[in-house]
Amino acid sequence: MAILKVLHFPDEKLRLKAAPVEKINPEIAKIAKNMLETMYAEGGIGLAATQVNIQKRIIVIDISENKNEPLIIINPKILKLEGKEESQEGCLSVPDYFDIVQRAKNIEFCYTTLKNETITKTIDGLLAICIQHEIDHLNGKLFIDYLSPLKRDRLKKKIHKQKIKERRSKNSELHNNESPNKIL
Ligand code: NI
Repeated sequence: MAILKVLHFPDEKLRLKAAPVEKINPEIAKIAKNMLETMYAEGGIGLAATQVNIQKRIIVIDISENKNEPLIIINPKILKLEGKEESQEGCLSVPDYFDIVQRAKNIEFCYTTLKNETITKTIDGLLAICIQHEIDHLNGKLFIDYLSPLKRDRLKKKIHKQKIKERRSKNSELHNNESPNKIL
């Protein structure tokens, strides 16, 4: 198993639309297991293949408290959306940012398992929110796309500033590491 690199906003690869999985095979199983390991390592409760630069319709979720109820969901399709619910969301691809998003409260959806079974479920609560968030990823959409343009702008500026800060601190580390006896 391996921990995969999670892409961060504003990486354009997060905007790619994932293709359906045509055949469940050992390669797909391996991707799903690596995604689960990555999700656990990063402390997330859901991860879509798009986030690890794999454009296939695979998502992994574990909303259990003890992190021992992994769900591997292939080719998910929402069949019905009902009601509305607002909740605070975050995302491994948008570190350190949380905001309120409105989504459907109840959803009916179907998906394929690693054993090639087709399952249809009606769900609500955190799992329903999570599935909607992850399916958005497979379609190249992020939860921050739901924010007002003003909030999104502020977030972009914040990330830009963070990057400049990181670059500056890296540069100063380089200077500090230069030993004085190298200056001739
Ligand atoms: Ni996410």
